[in-house]
Amino acid sequence: MNIYDYVIVGSGVAGLNAARLIPKDKKVLVLCKKVPWECNTFYAQGGIATAVDKEDIPSHIKDTLVAGVNHNNTNAVEVLSENSRACVDDMINAGMQFDLNTKGELAFTKEAAHSRNRILHADGDATGRMIHLFLMGTCQHEIETNCVVNDLLIKDDVCYGVQYYVSETEQKVVYAHNTILASGGIGSIYKYHTNSTAIAGEIQGICAEKGIELKDMEMMQFHPTVFKGTSFARKSLLSEALRGEGAHIVDENNNRFLFEYHPDGELAPRDVVSRSIYDYHSKTGLRIYLSFDSFEKNSFRKRFPNIYENLKQFGYDLPFERVPISPAFHYAMGGIATNVDAKVKGMKNLYAIGECACTGLHGANRLASNSLLEGVVYSKIAVDISMKENFKIYAENYDKTIRSYVRNKEADKPIKERVRQLMWENAGIVRDEETLKKALEEINNFFNENIGRLLFLRLLTAKSILNAAIERKKSLGAHFIKEKKC
Ligand code: SIN
Repeated sequence: MNIYDYVIVGSGVAGLNAARLIPKDKKVLVLCKKVPWECNTFYAQGGIATAVDKEDIPSHIKDTLVAGVNHNNTNAVEVLSENSRACVDDMINAGMQFDLNTKGELAFTKEAAHSRNRILHADGDATGRMIHLFLMGTCQHEIETNCVVNDLLIKDDVCYGVQYYVSETEQKVVYAHNTILASGGIGSIYKYHTNSTAIAGEIQGICAEKGIELKDMEMMQFHPTVFKGTSFARKSLLSEALRGEGAHIVDENNNRFLFEYHPDGELAPRDVVSRSIYDYHSKTGLRIYLSFDSFEKNSFRKRFPNIYENLKQFGYDLPFERVPISPAFHYAMGGIATNVDAKVKGMKNLYAIGECACTGLHGANRLASNSLLEGVVYSKIAVDISMKENFKIYAENYDKTIRSYVRNKEADKPIKERVRQLMWENAGIVRDEETLKKALEEINNFFNENIGRLLFLRLLTAKSILNAAIERKKSLGAHFIKEKKC
């Protein structure tokens, strides 16, 4: 039987960095749902945070905890920060090029809720894309595209690999001594989001089905500044680095209203900024914009070339014009419950890293640019630990189950749309128990329809978000409950 040493589900920063670090003599298969670049890493703009040096570790930890409203697992935060600079330097030594300042030193910038400049960027505002290109260039292992994972092979508490669709009707099984889940978050479960459209939370759904713990699923982050000018589900991000370097959020009368909500204005933690925009717009009906008055023309285009080009195609000439914005779903703090050694809780041979995992690192609201860093640091931990364990599986023990069809196009489409609407309206920036319960009831009814396997998994994930949100009775970070009017 053909058994791999590793199967890695996902080709974002976490999955590909794990692949980079696994020695060449190991047999490794990376599975991508579509093409390798259809992952959230590829769309990440602002940068990758790192403690700049040893002295910066305590304040990086503190900033992460403050942004996360102390709901964080402090140990996971310490592990992240303490390993950050070494992991980033390791990528640089392997050939990753971050932008340099005029002195030829690493150019650290600032983003909201960071107490100092500690964000590295590449090609100005295409950090994720450049990291992805770098990692693809270093990958010496097998990559298979268009593989939609539909099951984990599990017997007792041991994972033996995964089962996946390669077409509408055909599925394959891959057996592996180690399975690393690096499949990203849940973006396409929401009507408006900044994620790759390939990301829809199916792996979290499989975990829910298998009884593997999902944690903090109510903690969903909405990015405050996406371009509002299109009707697409996937919204273009206007990076937090823009605000870090001087862009302002204003209403249509050019009033910087955010100081009415938080002393740090635009640089308050992300959940606060998104909620304030939502509240201000609901109360006043005024349109909200990102304004670039403080930028000088040439420096803007040099520093943010991709945002400049992207907005140009929609007729905006930055930095001379303000751009209409709104918040959109961005990032799942919650996910597969994972220990700080990257092992999925209660399981053997199963690791989860990056956005699909929940070590508790981000608490109730992720600090800007800690996500790429998480992928880099925890992928190294997963590889180091799994190499030491060297636990072997016996795949013939596994009793393979063949699942139903991948999708039922006719039945799935309207349900998928309805789920995205329900999640956007009821499990969004502001929630209340009554409508969360109604949304859950509607989602539960969809399980009775003749739906495909992928939608079934998505529904399980949506259900776990709603259940977690119903269970948390008090507002905390990204989970904000509307006050009842007396
Ligand atoms: C951004 O560039 O604003 C996104 C960075 C992040 O999600 O941390």
